[in-house]
Amino acid sequence: MLRPALSIGLVSATVLLGGMALTGSASAEPGAAPAQSQAARYPADSLRALGDRVGLRIGTAVNTDELGSNADYTRITAEQFSSVTPENVMKWQLVEPTRGTYDWAAADRLVAFAKKNKQLVRGHTLVWHSQLPTWLSSDGYTTTLSNDELKALLKKHIQDQVKHFKGDIWQWDVVNEAFDDDGQPRQTIWYKAWGGLGYIADAFRWAHEADPKALLFYNDYNLEFTGVKSNAVYDLVRSLKAQRVPIDGVGFQGHLDTQYGFPDLQNNLQRFADLGLKVAETEVDVRTFTQAPPNENTPTNPLAGYAQESYWSRALKACLAVRECISFTPWGFGDTYSWIPGWFDNPQEGAALLYDGNLQPKSQYYVLQQDLALAAGAPHRSGPGAGHN
Ligand code: G3I
Repeated sequence: MLRPALSIGLVSATVLLGGMALTGSASAEPGAAPAQSQAARYPADSLRALGDRVGLRIGTAVNTDELGSNADYTRITAEQFSSVTPENVMKWQLVEPTRGTYDWAAADRLVAFAKKNKQLVRGHTLVWHSQLPTWLSSDGYTTTLSNDELKALLKKHIQDQVKHFKGDIWQWDVVNEAFDDDGQPRQTIWYKAWGGLGYIADAFRWAHEADPKALLFYNDYNLEFTGVKSNAVYDLVRSLKAQRVPIDGVGFQGHLDTQYGFPDLQNNLQRFADLGLKVAETEVDVRTFTQAPPNENTPTNPLAGYAQESYWSRALKACLAVRECISFTPWGFGDTYSWIPGWFDNPQEGAALLYDGNLQPKSQYYVLQQDLALAAGAPHRSGPGAGHN
């Protein structure tokens, strides 16, 4: 599945990989997956197989409407990725649309799929201001419920959900997007109910009680850039660590855009890791200006693809360079299913993922494939989830 244009580069990739033929089976190196069983499950040149060699999980957000019903989508999800994140179906709005009645069906199906395909699951997300059921809040900032009710509801939500999936979740995004871009705490119903950021420590403690083995993450966007928001989250997690709150990691969403400069990502990953935390890139996509619908995934500038290749490559390499960076997760893999064109429509942006609308890999995919192939010298990750068993 490697594009012919890379054949010269692959000669050196093969040498660097110590004899591993990218389209054949892997050689038995320390940390590498067993060649036979791996070859039987997914191609040796898949992103997941190449990630295995440095213990880096390559993930994807999954649209469960397509999983199982769309054969190509389903095959790519299984073959290319070693971890999955439900794009929507573990959010409060979906799991408890009616107060007191849980619907775990879609999330359960994804967990079963992941087990069958030897993938780990990133649970997303327990505490957020968005995609709440309307009985709780219609906008995440206002509610008719009292502070005491909200506190009891959040505790029950976290404990019920984490217990339901106990043992099946590798990393939980416990709290998502608690800060605004100006570095101030977001004035959500949770912030208001607690009269401050105290809800965050409580959320981590409740989640840890419910599943002591799951890795618990704080997750947010724009942490990639050094600035007030990244600094505010840094101060928060440092304080949580100092209070011995059970937080294990920080997720850098990584929603990148070629109109902005590439962020100081590696340094930011490293400074959070230096606090004694794991880090992960959790929702990567690289959008660019595109044509009007129905061509919303065709870049207006024919050279945009080169910038996108570069951003994808640098985002991956930043993770590879930081030993504590344990997973790299694009936010989906087919442009047709991306949230970007619907959200950024004036001016129109899109073309943000690794596969096009027909689920064909784009040049960005091959760049990541080659980067991973050449990454044999990157530090190997260790600990829960590293590599394959
Ligand atoms: O399921 C309903 C469907 O029944 C209805 O007909 C349709 C009409 O609009 O809406 C459907 O729900 C949509 C849902 O995605 C499922 O497709 C919601 O409107 C839409 O708002 C929702 O968007 C999701 C968004 O989070 C919500 O904020 C995106 O798919 C999802 O990619 C996005 O993911 C977030 C991460 O969770 C957190 N970080 C940012 C990231 C991008 O916004």
